[in-house]
Amino acid sequence: MKLRFDYNNMMTSYVGEHGVNPDCIDADKEVIASAFKTVMDNRGKGWQEWCDLPYASEEYLDEMISYCGAIGKKAESFVVFGIGGSALGPLAVATSLIHLHHNELPASKRKGPKLYVEDNVDPERMSALLDVLDLKTAYFNVITKSGETSETLTQFLILYNMLKKELGVEEAKKHIIVTTTVGKGTLYNISAKEGFKVYDVQKGVGGRFSVLSPVGLVTFAAMGMDIKAMLKGAATMAEASANGDIYKNPTLMSAYLKWVSMKQGKNISVLMPYADGLKYMADFYCQIWAESLGKEVDVTGKVINAGQTPAKALGVTDQHSQVQLYTEGPFDKVVTFIAVDEYRSTVTIPHDDVDACDFLKGHTMNELINAERKATEFALMKAGRSNFTIYLPVVNEETIGELLMYFMYDTAFAGALLNIDAYNQPGVEEGKKATFAMLGRTGYEAKLAEVNAVVKNDKFII
Ligand code: PA5
Repeated sequence: MKLRFDYNNMMTSYVGEHGVNPDCIDADKEVIASAFKTVMDNRGKGWQEWCDLPYASEEYLDEMISYCGAIGKKAESFVVFGIGGSALGPLAVATSLIHLHHNELPASKRKGPKLYVEDNVDPERMSALLDVLDLKTAYFNVITKSGETSETLTQFLILYNMLKKELGVEEAKKHIIVTTTVGKGTLYNISAKEGFKVYDVQKGVGGRFSVLSPVGLVTFAAMGMDIKAMLKGAATMAEASANGDIYKNPTLMSAYLKWVSMKQGKNISVLMPYADGLKYMADFYCQIWAESLGKEVDVTGKVINAGQTPAKALGVTDQHSQVQLYTEGPFDKVVTFIAVDEYRSTVTIPHDDVDACDFLKGHTMNELINAERKATEFALMKAGRSNFTIYLPVVNEETIGELLMYFMYDTAFAGALLNIDAYNQPGVEEGKKATFAMLGRTGYEAKLAEVNAVVKNDKFII
């Protein structure tokens, strides 16, 4: 394993009474073993088909690299349309691996086409996108597992209409890749009729666990990323997660410590990467942790209103914003730092004739950012605040694959410890249905009546 998981600052020996007593791990060994067994026994089954994603066949990957790679080479822009699990993975991974100002680089210096991940239906954003795209050289990946999501279908309809007008029907079709469930859903039906290139989202892979399926891989291959290395990294973390000894299993230990923290009333889980490229990993984490664990009932139907609210922060930026709260506010948080040992650039602070700031001169920004991270860890620890650090030796396809699998197994084990179904999202589905009803979709008349019955009047509006 390349990632390292430092949980010292979760333990009472470092953070005192608000930490986890090592004796608890022994006392909880049966519940830990049971959660471990639940996840292990279900690998590759039901909604845990995501566990198999690192082991895609060479032939399957080679076709994707060839087809999507060719598109990436001729495209000036590559646009992802999707939302939730169909956008956050592609966004988090791609931004981790591309140049921080990728789209602004000249084509000769850019590795891969310009990338746009469009995950909202803000009309201003759509107009702004269309203002900067040249449709002749833009290619689109429309991603929706269900094939029914209003936001993504809306984006598709607008775009396809424009493409047809600009390029003609036959050429327009060549600019679209659809990633959806084959054989099911509105977008699949349209794709089959129109003849779009389609990649199938495996049946038992849910949105927030789908980044290593075509949902992410198509975009990564188009961007020229090494998807085989990514899956290799993911397999490494999957293997580490299959170790029944919690002291050797980073995802089981992480889930367990956060589960104990929840029981201690720490209802907030902050992810704070110290790297701008990893900023959107916090968004990815927020979704997988929130949507998987935020559940009204446990698997027996008992109301438990489970979950831990995820929050995102960025080091060092948020040291000057949120860290004051983390250090002195309520004891209701666990902070996970992500550290990078070797950044991809080194920038040295010059020795010059400015007669001040001597403590900075000659150091690198790399030393500064790591010193600030360690200092923040120290300050939190000293204030008795639980925190741990995931170390990435470098940021590349392999370590990102490992990190993604870390988040997935961490969430799966936490779900098993909470005894909930981590793979459904009834709260989200309700909103989707109400949207269909309000837009007049056939078959949703009863839902519309239900919505209208509780539509708010202006009694409590100022
Ligand atoms: O994690 C999930 O399941 C959700 O966030 C979905 O990904 C999101 O609602 C989009 O769904 P779909 O891919 O079906 O368009």
